[in-house]
Amino acid sequence: MIKVNAVSKSFGEKENYNLVLDNVSLEIKKGEFVSLMGESGSGKSTLLYLIGGLDKPTSGNVYINDKDINTLKEKEIASLRRSGIGFVFQFYNLVQNLSVEENIMLPVVMDGKKEKDYKDRLEKILKIIGLEDKRKALPNQLSGGQQQRVSIARAIILSPQIILADEPIGNLDSKSGQEVMELFKTINKEENITILQVTHSEESAKYGDRIVRLKDGKIV
Ligand SMILES: Nc1ncnc2c1ncn2[C@@H]1O[C@H](COP(=O)(O)OP(=O)(O)OP(=O)(O)O)[C@@H](O)[C@H]1O
Ligand SMILES: [Mg+2]
Repeated sequence: MIKVNAVSKSFGEKENYNLVLDNVSLEIKKGEFVSLMGESGSGKSTLLYLIGGLDKPTSGNVYINDKDINTLKEKEIASLRRSGIGFVFQFYNLVQNLSVEENIMLPVVMDGKKEKDYKDRLEKILKIIGLEDKRKALPNQLSGGQQQRVSIARAIILSPQIILADEPIGNLDSKSGQEVMELFKTINKEENITILQVTHSEESAKYGDRIVRLKDGKIV
């Protein structure tokens, strides 16, 4: 599903030159749940952004479903980012004046799809994230863990094949963090969504099927 082939990424030139990813190759199969670990500055977020088409490698290729994403047209990349890949970040980035269900439905609206076609999916997802009774609440009426569950719901409303999560529990206490990890596990199993998560916590990394470690720009 995801194939990273001999990818290097550098920033800056001359004295500012920084080789962040050095000839990295990685394959992730459909339905896998992979945890990406490594010290701060080791290139985890950079790798995630390259896989998500948010940035381009300096050399090498990233394939999603056998398609080199850097050969996709701007429109195709935009569509992949909207509906093929769900992103979850450390800070939930919910829209503060929209309710839980409106936040979850945002990608549907943004993609010009009919909201009523997603009514059943919304119900299913509210159930999965355990916030059926909070559907009308505003983000500031929720705990951090609940807000992160809403952002995960938003990431999966369009049934993406892949979720890329960058330190999704980095901002949560350990109990909320465990709940979010359980939610990822459920989504991975029930919806067969491939998950790549960046984490600093060995404990949360264990929710995945395997751990990939980055060190000095290489996979070790
Ligand atoms: N847009 C950019 N311009 C210049 N340098 C960058 C840019 N993005 C990242 N870097 C550099 O690349 C290196 C890796 O950054 P990255 O954010 O991928 O690390 P990380 O492993 O995610 O770290 P953390 O655990 O702290 O989030 C750092 O040295 C960073 O300064
Ligand atoms: Mg990072």
